[in-house]
Amino acid sequence: MLRTQITLGIILMVAAIATLVYITVTEDARMATMTNAQLARRIENGAELFHRNCITCHGEKAEGIPGLCPPLNSLTLLQQRVKDTGWSGSVHSYIVSTISAGRLYSTRPDQFVGRKNEGMAMPFWSQVYGGPLRVDQVEDIALYLENFGDVPVATGPTPTPAPLPDDPIEAGLVVYQANACASCHQLDLADAVGAVGPTHNGLGETAAQRIEDPSYTGEATTPEEYIEESILNSAAHVVEGYGPVSAMPSYPNLSEEQLDALVQMLMQQ
Ligand code: HEC
Ligand code: HEC
Repeated sequence: MLRTQITLGIILMVAAIATLVYITVTEDARMATMTNAQLARRIENGAELFHRNCITCHGEKAEGIPGLCPPLNSLTLLQQRVKDTGWSGSVHSYIVSTISAGRLYSTRPDQFVGRKNEGMAMPFWSQVYGGPLRVDQVEDIALYLENFGDVPVATGPTPTPAPLPDDPIEAGLVVYQANACASCHQLDLADAVGAVGPTHNGLGETAAQRIEDPSYTGEATTPEEYIEESILNSAAHVVEGYGPVSAMPSYPNLSEEQLDALVQMLMQQ
């Protein structure tokens, strides 16, 4: 009798373990399908939001409108843009950030001007910047765009970048506009009225004050170094009133010439 009970106990235990293993395995599979279904729903949601908000500029299927707005229907293309603009984050963060903060000025005014009716080349969309879309909605649109995959898109001949003007101030301005610094900063010289970051008017003097301040956390010892540091690694010091995490992208891919031009121009503001 006792033997039978023990045997039965063992059988039940083995059965319980087997059931548990079975559930764990199938649960993983079930979760994977769930995540896929969820992702699909978010992409669909992103497509709908894109249709409602973006097609007047970027085209019905994100194929772009020549002269007006760039195509967005190729991950390869967006990856190339991340390189061209010197953006240091992922392609996802590039898309999310562009949608969220918009662009006051086009980085390629010779190719895409946007519709100027909003006073910006590309309007801002995130509620964080006063736009109409929630953060999760911006994320869904980004997922939709990334889902186009690696289809290379014909964009016509890429113009070789013109050499920078000899005048250092003008050269700095060209780099400033090309990298959309103006969409976040104020700078009279560039007619920039961005409201996301601190003003660049008087930056030469401000930079000198920043490194003298006891709360300064970076490593610059001169105002020039401070400006360079802000551009290459904005997290080294976050200006008081901003942060705690810097909302300023870093630009480690700028050439030495571009960086020098920017710093020289900004030093004289
Ligand atoms: C008023 C016209 C306009 C609207 C509406 C608009 N965009 Fe744009 N968008 C632009 C322009 C112009 C550019 C290119 C700016 C540049 O060259 O720097 C751009 C650039 C972008 C980029 C970066 C692509 C690149 O080549 O660097 C993304 C991503 C983007 N838009 C997404 C969106 C999404 C998503 C929406 C809708 C929520 C939207 N845009 C609505 C005008 C618009
Ligand atoms: C998406 C918005 C955004 C863009 C684009 C942007 N910045 Fe900034 N920038 C900020 C913010 C926010 C801060 C303040 C936070 C910090 O110090 O990191 C800042 C800080 C700075 C500072 C330090 C200013 C001070 O008062 O100490 C400099 C210099 C600077 N940015 C230069 C640039 C340059 C040059 C570009 C273009 C190559 C650029 N930024 C593009 C948002 C931006």
